[in-house]
Amino acid sequence: MGATGRLPRAERLPPRRDRWWRGAVLYQIWPRSFADGNGDGIGDLRGIGERLDHLARLGVDAVWISPFYESPMRDFGYDIADHRAVDPQFGTLEDFDRLLARAHALGLRVLVDFVPSHTSDRHPWFLESREDRGNPRADWYVWADPRPDGTPPNNWLSVFGGSAWQWEPRRGQYYLHNFLKEQPDLDLHRPEVREALLDVARFWLERGVDGFRLDAVEFAFHDPRLRNNPPRREGPAPGGAAPDSPWAMQRHRFDKGRAELNALFLQPLWRLTEAYGGRVLLGEVTGEHARARIARHTNGGGLDMAYGFDLLTGEITASRVREAVEGMQARIGGGWMCWAFSNHDVRRAPSRLPVADPPDAARLLLPVLLCCLPGSPCLYQGDELGLEEAELSFEDLRDPFGIAFWPRFPGRDGCRMPMPWKAGAPHGGFSETTPWIPFHEPHRRRAADRQYAEPGSIYRRLAAFLAFRRTQPALREGDIRFLDPTGPLLAFERRRSESRILCVFDLGGEGGSFRPAARPRPLLSSAAGVSGTRIELAPWGFLLAEPGEG
Ligand code: BGC
Repeated sequence: MGATGRLPRAERLPPRRDRWWRGAVLYQIWPRSFADGNGDGIGDLRGIGERLDHLARLGVDAVWISPFYESPMRDFGYDIADHRAVDPQFGTLEDFDRLLARAHALGLRVLVDFVPSHTSDRHPWFLESREDRGNPRADWYVWADPRPDGTPPNNWLSVFGGSAWQWEPRRGQYYLHNFLKEQPDLDLHRPEVREALLDVARFWLERGVDGFRLDAVEFAFHDPRLRNNPPRREGPAPGGAAPDSPWAMQRHRFDKGRAELNALFLQPLWRLTEAYGGRVLLGEVTGEHARARIARHTNGGGLDMAYGFDLLTGEITASRVREAVEGMQARIGGGWMCWAFSNHDVRRAPSRLPVADPPDAARLLLPVLLCCLPGSPCLYQGDELGLEEAELSFEDLRDPFGIAFWPRFPGRDGCRMPMPWKAGAPHGGFSETTPWIPFHEPHRRRAADRQYAEPGSIYRRLAAFLAFRRTQPALREGDIRFLDPTGPLLAFERRRSESRILCVFDLGGEGGSFRPAARPRPLLSSAAGVSGTRIELAPWGFLLAEPGEG
């Protein structure tokens, strides 16, 4: 257990000198399922390198690559055993350097995942720490004695099920793990641990990465007094938790979201990245009262952007999108959001619409809408093809989270299926051999090669939209004002000085019409048009327009 002393005050950091990331479009790659470059059935860095053209032509600005570091893969890479090595399944450091150089040559920035809160239980730091109570790294993880009756020190729970404490016979103590027991929690109250993490960041900055996505960063600090979390009132499970999971029955007052995070870790890391110039920090911030913490973190608190969960879970409807975005913007002021509808942890967006098997128009609307919201949007691999969630049977599950919570929650495999690259190839062209998880056949008809060839495909139309978006300062950096259409339409205006764009979407799948204050001049649309002074939308239609004067 770490002693904190007095809490240093978090000063407000100045703005970044280079803010290329404001309004940039990010694209998340989950390497295991993106593209297999060496034919072993597992996606890898070489595979990513070979597919960068897919992203450059789509028109994204940056990619965020989920962990590819050496790992026993209990949590598919989020359990890191060596922060400075590429796992052999994913390639080598030279492969990474080549990938980075190629991305930069194409004008794509690269963010890598950084996991400060925990390591793998095979990490040399943990192997040393667990040996006894007197070794040089004895305090690098969160260790605690049992209570007199032998039970764990407090009521903290693991997001992935069960107690957050695991017994270690060598020390006769428990260690903390917020996720799997194979992911012991580092004690960032210790300055030497923070220094070691900053060294890891330095290593990747020296290689030329453009920033970090900070995984589960709010778990980095805990209450050193180990006070019990209070119970939580009813309500939907906070983002990232399985529905009905015991973890969602607590208020996470003491095991995460602690105030030390800014001054002790985020701000030193921010200063380090700022010294390199042109880098960015994107932090995952979830859970109850996330808006207040996002406001603190992204207004000089050490994060440039917060990756929030408000749009990542639950049904996607006009009212939910409006509530999430309007509520967040009102709360964060000058802070900055990174919005996503899909990622490697949640059900894919087309499968969260209120209709089963939504048509292509709906699958196109989702990424376009995302990229019209204020902040920096983050697409997830497959969004550009309109991929839906794969429904798996228990036998097909690989994700320990899903295996633990089946059948109430099937886990995260359904959004981690191999990418469909070639409609006519075995395993959808993802790999020449049987992939680590079977290729999802229904995705074949959405394969990338087919979509490149069809002018009306989701990929081609999204690329056209992103090219348009690049020219629109109102969409990249403008503020937002919601309008009040009737029914399941969503309408808002983005504005940056003189430039204004009206955006109207049908999220109910039944079409509708909206009469703005003055006759708009259409700029880009799908299944929609202007008739007289009205905007008419067919089901899942959308229209972007220059608002009329009036
Ligand atoms: C990541 C998950 C991971 C967890 C533990 C999350 O926020 O996105 O995929 O399992 O952190 O590292």
